[in-house]
Amino acid sequence: MTEPNIWSLLEPSALLDPHPIYRRWREQSTVLWDADIEAWLVTGYEEAFAALRDADNFCQDWRRVGVDTPPSLLSLQTLDPPEHTQIRHLMLEGFKAADTEVLEKTVRATLDELLAAVEQHETFDFVSRIAEPLTLRAVTELLGVPEPDREWFVPLSNTIVDGMDSSLRPECYEPGVEARAELSALVKTWLDSPLPDGFTAHVVRRAPSVGVDREVLLNSLRVVLQAGFQTASRFLVTGLLALLRLPPERRVPVDTDTAVHELVRFAGPVHVESRACVRDVSLGDKKIRKGEIVSMFLGAANRDPRMFVDPDVLQWGRTPNRHLGFGRGPHACLGAQVAVQVARIAFGTIGRRFPDARLVAEPVPRLNVTEHGMHRLEVSF
Ligand code: HEM
Repeated sequence: MTEPNIWSLLEPSALLDPHPIYRRWREQSTVLWDADIEAWLVTGYEEAFAALRDADNFCQDWRRVGVDTPPSLLSLQTLDPPEHTQIRHLMLEGFKAADTEVLEKTVRATLDELLAAVEQHETFDFVSRIAEPLTLRAVTELLGVPEPDREWFVPLSNTIVDGMDSSLRPECYEPGVEARAELSALVKTWLDSPLPDGFTAHVVRRAPSVGVDREVLLNSLRVVLQAGFQTASRFLVTGLLALLRLPPERRVPVDTDTAVHELVRFAGPVHVESRACVRDVSLGDKKIRKGEIVSMFLGAANRDPRMFVDPDVLQWGRTPNRHLGFGRGPHACLGAQVAVQVARIAFGTIGRRFPDARLVAEPVPRLNVTEHGMHRLEVSF
């Protein structure tokens, strides 16, 4: 049996298409030990699904396995039930307090504006001209907060995502911590100033009465802004790339929830979610020891042939489609509905108005294994 080579995932070809590597690992074993990063690599659907759902045995709150966590990191993303349940319910209330009709109108109007600005250009970069500005507008509209300066926000936000890859690139850890602190300073201004009715105003007002600590609230709002912007903007890019690689006769305007979910399964940007094992337990055919790290490769699980018929083929009507692109279990994506709404508008509009859209250069992938994305995606509409 050959050792998995985790570093191979950093090759540009693998960042554009990691599936041949995932397939090789999965064929060896759905749960494989990687001695370099001392973690289990989970590529099977059933095993990834089981671990994501099982917060008793696989934790997000690494204090449960003795890892020190600074208060600036405690949020809905890093707490486990029962503490997690309280902040998650509060954030769910926030999503309900947002006006989805206004959001829909804002996203449509912003997209029209952005498309009008690029239409006269022969070619343009889809990342910086459409995906990033559209998503930043959508997420801040959802949160009911002022939109930050994009030139400041986007690089800072990318530095935080790179910090998530620090087991492969330790040099990304410190800059990620600093960027997170800078973003927290922005979120603190929301807590200290009057905001219009909506998501943030609602959760700030309600937090004391449901017993949510101010720092956990601040960190969780930062997570919604950061996770929402990064995953949704990267998905517009990885999704469009998948569409443009299809022969024109197989392309459709991706304007239904079913079609968007299939695109998330096939080309979702979040490739890895990790947990720490709380006690000795079995996963697949392996014994996992207390304290060991388990990394779920969502992109691999979403192409597991034991779960999906013809996993490497986009089937627009695929139902059921129990993909893991939005995670599963207590930490499953809170913004999935919003993400699907934004993607439906963007891919639907682009597909209808620009059926001959094409790639004009090979995309330049970001050096990130956890969350895939592109520096540039040069296209012609
Ligand atoms: C296509 C776009 C998106 C994808 C692929 C995606 C994917 C994911 C995944 C895989 C998780 C699970 C993480 C885990 O298991 O630890 C997650 C969690 C989360 N997502 Fe998303 N997401 C998307 C869009 C959004 C949007 C638009 C928002 C907010 C506006 C958002 C907010 C969150 C939050 C707050 C969590 C943490 C939930 C918790 O830990 O309880 N996401 N997302």
